[in-house]
Amino acid sequence: MIRKATTADRPRISEVRNAVRENKLEPGSVAKVGDTARWIYDNGTFWVWEEDGAVQGFAVADPRDGTIFGLFVHPDYEGRGIARALLPLACSDLKRAGFTTATLNTGAGTRAERFYRADSWTDTGRRDADGEIIFEKAL
Ligand SMILES: CC(C)(COP(=O)(O)OP(=O)(O)OC[C@H]1O[C@@H](n2cnc3c(N)ncnc32)[C@H](O)[C@@H]1OP(=O)(O)O)[C@@H](O)C(=O)NCCC(=O)NCCS
Repeated sequence: MIRKATTADRPRISEVRNAVRENKLEPGSVAKVGDTARWIYDNGTFWVWEEDGAVQGFAVADPRDGTIFGLFVHPDYEGRGIARALLPLACSDLKRAGFTTATLNTGAGTRAERFYRADSWTDTGRRDADGEIIFEKAL
């Protein structure tokens, strides 16, 4: 089931975020990511996939800058189309906010990179700070 997250989902969303094996949260990014997450909890939407009584994945856009802030699926639930089902909802939030292009960055050589390429995102270059791939997609 896909639904909007409530306050009660926050701990489990963090658990899923911390359970991933790739694109793990860097210690240096914890504070900034926390700030963004708090702003979106208050002003935006975390879309969650619930199965077996718990959130197993989420997708979330930042309507301030046109980025996909997060797309994460618990490792035990990968490969079943959950990300594919969730991502369009976060993209729709950006479209509704007035953006014509969605942007995101992800680690090179990851399952996520393969996922975005299969989903027709365009590789537009590398981030100076960490070499992550910057992907864009028309909305
Ligand atoms: C990347 C991640 C979100 C994918 O989640 P998922 O639920 O396993 O993905 P799905 O099951 O929806 O996608 C399955 C397949 O569909 C493919 N696919 C996705 N969109 C597609 C599309 N529109 N058309 C055709 N194929 C598509 C993917 O390439 C993938 O293929 P594979 O299983 O052969 O590798 C998940 O692995 C994850 O959370 N990884 C760790 C965290 C991370 O890297 N997040 C992204 C940070 S930016």
